Amino acid sequence: MKKVLFTETVLRDANQSLIATRMPFSDFEPVLAELDKAGYYSLECWGGATFDSCLRFLNEDPWERLRKIRSVAKNTKLQMLLRGQNLLGYHHYPDDVVRAFVRKSVENGIDIIRIFDALNDLRNIEVAVDETRKAGGHAQGTIVYTISPIHNLEAYVKLGKQLEEMQVDSICIKDMAGIMSPKEAYDLITALKQAGITTPLVLHTHCTTGLGAMTCLKAVEAGVDCIDTAISCLSGGTSQPPTETMEYTLRQMGYDTGLDAKQLKKINDMMKPVKDSFVENGSLTPKILATETDALTYQVPGGMLSNLMSQLKQQNALNRLEEVLTEVPNVRKDLGYPPLVTPMSQMVGVQAATNVLLGERYKSIGKEVQAYIRGEYGTAPGHVDDALAKKVLGDEQPITGRYADTLKPGMDEAMANVAKWSDTVEDALSYALFPPVAEKFFTAREEKARNTVTYSIRKA
Ligand code: CO
Repeated sequence: MKKVLFTETVLRDANQSLIATRMPFSDFEPVLAELDKAGYYSLECWGGATFDSCLRFLNEDPWERLRKIRSVAKNTKLQMLLRGQNLLGYHHYPDDVVRAFVRKSVENGIDIIRIFDALNDLRNIEVAVDETRKAGGHAQGTIVYTISPIHNLEAYVKLGKQLEEMQVDSICIKDMAGIMSPKEAYDLITALKQAGITTPLVLHTHCTTGLGAMTCLKAVEAGVDCIDTAISCLSGGTSQPPTETMEYTLRQMGYDTGLDAKQLKKINDMMKPVKDSFVENGSLTPKILATETDALTYQVPGGMLSNLMSQLKQQNALNRLEEVLTEVPNVRKDLGYPPLVTPMSQMVGVQAATNVLLGERYKSIGKEVQAYIRGEYGTAPGHVDDALAKKVLGDEQPITGRYADTLKPGMDEAMANVAKWSDTVEDALSYALFPPVAEKFFTAREEKARNTVTYSIRKA
């Protein structure tokens, strides 16, 4: 019987796509032991936006969250998402910081690290892949999927071969916008296999446009080894296809899913009240859960769509959403068709919104967009608009080497910066990634500890 592996995304991508990663540990703590018993290949539970959100919004130490998950989920592989040289932040970090971050992730409980570069510039994932393997983890390389005049089957097969040469343990095809059709998935996976790629393949997609479940099914038919799904109450919309539905379908077709359907129901029943609480507090809106076929035109990933909406809402400009969504592909073309994945999705989204709201294109150019044009994120997949490049660069030349090679080592400085609060590498990494946010978090943590001590003394 052909086996299909399942990666459950409820704790990371579903959480991030549907409720802006606001699920506190306490909400999912009771379900962890049940998730561990269901037969998943892996639980995607860390990385992506969870780290930032823990520190910024939830007053949680992300490292402690990981250790707590690990202490309960003993049998299932824990997986995280890492943006290559960007780690979990929004710019490139020096190699020693990348290595320390990867090593600490594995030490604190991660088994599989899915590593991607927004531009598919593989120079930007090499160090993280190398360190994951050295630390004894499973390095999952990634093909970031997008549709553009310059992204075709040959280009993807070439990427797949390069990843195999890097000796990644598996290859994920990452369709963050949910725009990959069933036929495209079938053709791509078939092409990768026909090209002689034997590294296990994983498909990651979203339901945004309604294609997700069909795309997973055709991917399995083409021989994909693993699919990403979300437990049903937090599936669909901008999230992943429902775990139970895919399990039911594939089991009926004769696949060994390894999953226990009764256990899945138990997990879903436990997660329903969590979902309801986010519906009640307004975080989970019907719009996010709906099928949005416009994304087939705009190619806007789930997370990006919800970010754009909340940004425009804050500026009382939600009525301009349509215009901004029309501007997104124009900005993307000007930037040489970067895939719309973090951090490119934010950069393109903010620039498109700025172009629309200021009533003049590129009247103001975001700092990150300027850095991108200078080559600080890697090589643009296509050609950057000459006039725009000229406006940013003037007579300067863009960087063509690997940007991280221009950075000074950063760990000593990071350790020195947190010395007044902590001497752990984990805290230094939190600070290196999100300095002001981490500072606020450490200060609050210290305050809390002091109050607890005072309270104990008084009680004694
Ligand atoms: Co995703």
